[in-house]
This record gives sequence, C-alpha cells and structure tokens, in this order.
Amino acid sequence: MLEQLEQLYTDSLNALQEADGTAVLDTWYKDTLGRKGSIYLMTRQVGQLNKEERPAFGQRINVVKNELEAAYQARLSELKAKELESQIASSAIDVTLPGRPLPQGRLHVITQTLRDIYRIFGDMGFQIYRSPDVETDAFNFELLNFPPHHPAREMQDSFYTENPDVILRTHTSAGQIRAMRDYHPEPVRVILPGMCYRNEQITTRSSIQFTQVEGLAVGHNISMADLKGTLTEFARRLFGSNRQTRFRASYFPFTEPSAEMDVTCFLCDGKGCPVCKQTGWLEILGSGMVHPTVLRNGGYDPEIYTGFAFGLGPERIAMLKYGIDDIRQFWANDLRFLQQF
Ligand code: PHE
Repeated sequence: MLEQLEQLYTDSLNALQEADGTAVLDTWYKDTLGRKGSIYLMTRQVGQLNKEERPAFGQRINVVKNELEAAYQARLSELKAKELESQIASSAIDVTLPGRPLPQGRLHVITQTLRDIYRIFGDMGFQIYRSPDVETDAFNFELLNFPPHHPAREMQDSFYTENPDVILRTHTSAGQIRAMRDYHPEPVRVILPGMCYRNEQITTRSSIQFTQVEGLAVGHNISMADLKGTLTEFARRLFGSNRQTRFRASYFPFTEPSAEMDVTCFLCDGKGCPVCKQTGWLEILGSGMVHPTVLRNGGYDPEIYTGFAFGLGPERIAMLKYGIDDIRQFWANDLRFLQQF
C-alpha cells in the first residue's frame, strides 16, 4: 500500500511537469487532489491496513498531499507567467512601424496666387478692402460711368436677377465706389479681391466665374508715373526681374487715360508662339487714371484729387506662372490638377 502511494506520488509529480497549460493543470488538480481525486481515494483505503501500519501511512499521505499541493502551486504560477508572456508576444504593437500618412489638404492654387499678390501690394502700402459679390447696377456700372445704354456694357455680359437693379458683379471695380465713399476725403490705397461673374462662353481662356484683384489709389499728385511704377514693380516681384512689361493704350469708361499691361510670354520668352498669338506678349491687367466723374461719384473733388486704378486676373497670372493652358481647370475640382500646387 505504501508502495502504491509512492508510485502515485511520482506519477502525479511527473504528470504535473508534463502539464503544458493551465487547463490541463485544472484537470490534474481535480484528478489528484480533488474531492474524488486519487489521493482522497487512497486515504479511504486506510481501513484495509492493520492497526500498526496505519499511523505511518497516514503521516506519509499527509506529507505527499502537502508536497503535491505545493508542487501544483509552483507549476501553476510557472504556467501562468508563460501564458502571459506568449500573449504579450503575440499581441505586441511594433512601435517602429512607420505611421500611415494622413491625406493633407492644401490651399487652392488661386488662393496661393492671391496671397502672393496681397504680399506684394501689402509691402507697397495697400490694404485689403472687401466688397460684395452681389451688386447693384449702380455700383457695377452706372457710378463707374457706364450709362444704361453704353456699348461698353457689352464687354461684360451680366448675370441678372429678377430684381432689375441687382446683378452679380462683373468686375471688382464695383468696389471702387464703395471704398472711396468709405474713405473720402482721406487718401485711399486699397486692393479689392474677389470672385466676378460674366455670362461668357466657357472656353480654355474664359469662364463664367473668375477672381479679380482691383487696385485703387486716390490722393494728391498721383500720376500716370505712379501707376506705371507700381505695376511694373508688382510684375517684377511676381514674375522675376528678367520678365519684361509693356503698357498699351486701351479704353475703360471709368479711367482716362486707360492702359493694359502685358508681360513677355512665359512659353516663348517673347519670341512669338501660339499661346501669345505670335505677339510675344500676354495681357495681365487693365488700368488707368480714375475718371473725374468716378472720383466725384466716390466723393472726391477731381480738381484736387487724382488717382489710379487697375484690375488684374489671378487665374491669368497663375496660368502664366505655372504654364496652365486651360482656365476651366481652376474650378473643376479635379484633384489630379489641384494636387500639383
Ligand atoms: N474692371 C476692368 C475689367 O474687368 C479692369 C480695370 C480695372 C480697368 C480698373 C481699369 C481700372 O476689365
């Protein structure tokens, strides 16, 4: 019987070492030290021994029981540690992996161009003046010296609303009157950026909506020389000092005299090509000395004050700067285009 006990002891210890998981260990415990386990069954056999043998057997079985219990606890914590370790290893985060890039937005190429323009005129003392996109006929045309049936209105075919006086502005010049009425009789030096709308045929070079930046300077002794100096300096800073400029006489009802400014073609550098229609020049803005009638409409006495104004097209400038050949790209929302800038 004692031999049987010793055999059970070593077998149980071996089984304990072989148990390779806490689940197996649980079964081992039930089978060995549990309420109906092998040790318990052996205890019950004590009755079969004769009286002299019983105490020694009883003592031994208690020792075996305690040893097995201790061995079980040791094995249990061993296996638990192992299991935790492998769990950590298998679910580990590799902190050295490069992160997934988040798609990053950027400023629209026209916003970038506008900011370039603001910076240059800002350095020359021009402040930004905002005026509305929805205008009255008076501000957009009449006060700028376009009488109701003036043929120059033809150049800017408008979007009308059901209210005959309310239109979408066809040019930022409408804001000239607003700025002058705000500032007079103080001198004014502002740029007016914003979207303009014309009922145009949509082509590679013209669109029904486009941005403009208007410029206006009114004060004492402002001359055509100031206009040319300001705009030449602007073109140099924007396009680089080797880009040439020229002024051509033109006509606008609200300036007198009027001029358009050209820069040498970005593609052929002035030699002549299809983009510049063989002239070597590309137009970027309209300008002129503010017409006396317009000065008066803005609240200034044309006997005392003079001024110059200009209006340039940021889309045109961006096309020149980046060699873009289709104005429709700007507002088509094609990411393949927009992501290039
Ligand atoms: N408003 C004119 C246009 O849109 C441009 C311009 C502005 C011309 C200011 C002269 C002075 O064509």
